[in-house]
Amino acid sequence: MYRWIWYGVSVFGLLKLIRVLLTKWRGTIDRHNEINAKGKNVIITGATSGIGQAVVMEMADRDANVILACRDITKAKATVTHIRNRTSRGQLIVMELDLASLESVRKFAREFKNKYEKLDILVNNAGLMISPDKRLKTKDGFEMHFGVNHLGHFLLTNLLLDPLKNAAPSRVVTLSSMAHSWGAVNINDLMSEKTAPKDHFMVSGLYSNSKLGNALFNKELGKRLTGTGVHSYSLCPGMVFTNIGKNLNVPFILHLFRPLFWYLLRSPTEGAATVLYCALSKNVAHQTGQMYYNCKFWDPSTRIELTDKAASELWTASAKLVGMK
Ligand SMILES: NC(=O)c1ccc[n+]([C@@H]2O[C@H](COP(=O)([O-])OP(=O)(O)OC[C@H]3O[C@@H](n4cnc5c(N)ncnc54)[C@H](OP(=O)(O)O)[C@@H]3O)[C@@H](O)[C@H]2O)c1
Repeated sequence: MYRWIWYGVSVFGLLKLIRVLLTKWRGTIDRHNEINAKGKNVIITGATSGIGQAVVMEMADRDANVILACRDITKAKATVTHIRNRTSRGQLIVMELDLASLESVRKFAREFKNKYEKLDILVNNAGLMISPDKRLKTKDGFEMHFGVNHLGHFLLTNLLLDPLKNAAPSRVVTLSSMAHSWGAVNINDLMSEKTAPKDHFMVSGLYSNSKLGNALFNKELGKRLTGTGVHSYSLCPGMVFTNIGKNLNVPFILHLFRPLFWYLLRSPTEGAATVLYCALSKNVAHQTGQMYYNCKFWDPSTRIELTDKAASELWTASAKLVGMK
């Protein structure tokens, strides 16, 4: 009996120690070294869940005007109630945006520009990951990961460049992932119809490709906007306990480990830290086109070569796909 109690205490102690070390390694934001977000217009895509919802909470707490750009208005209103139960600070505005529809992206941008002259911070957060065995398409016929995670945000950002420039210095923050380093972007087969992408365990190669798209987009955006006062950042938030895996066929055994994942993975608030670092830290005010992880600079060349050529080719191909001149 005492032996089992001893085992229990040891396991608990070990997990606690791992959690403490992980928390230290993950880094935190320094609120004393941030630009003032009070009254700033901040758009967060995919604000109904996970990291996006945590970023809304943090921005509201800093008195920003937060626009929750969401495809499901009922869920977005529930998010507002959830946040209002915790803070009365900031403005929370719900607007409809379905990144799986170019028409919806255009409508959102039009409505935003009719209402607001300036956009201080755009957080391209929304994303999905679908089981590798499923092939879904957006309303415009694009492969779903590439269409939502990359192309939807590509068009959105481009349509919002005027209000971003009006607010300069302003920032665009695009969530990529560690998975970008497993991805490949084939310009002649962007929807991966001819070549099956390489899956890594439950992470679909289609997801990895779209996250590489995010990283390349950030690089090219940074380059194109040099001198405008609009800065671009991309990041991996780390492994965060969110709903991102809800569309995956997870082996039953893994469900048994949920409490362990909950305890050891980052919480959405911890996952939001690097997003906030990119959106608000004074440390990166003069940077653009770079990647970040654990609230610090993250050199992409140690994982994958993000070439200027690939970034520029993807930009041109994406512009064509979404019908931009
Ligand atoms: N969690 C991680 O470990 C991790 C790691 C690396 C990178 N990331 C990245 O972090 C970002 C946020 O993910 P998360 O983990 O917070 O996932 P999440 O909890 O599933 O949240 C994703 C959000 O995106 C929204 N969304 C999905 N499809 C959309 C569409 N077509 N139009 C508009 N919104 C859409 C979802 O809306 P609904 O609520 O309506 O579904 C939800 O609000 C993603 O870009 C993801 O790739 C996450």
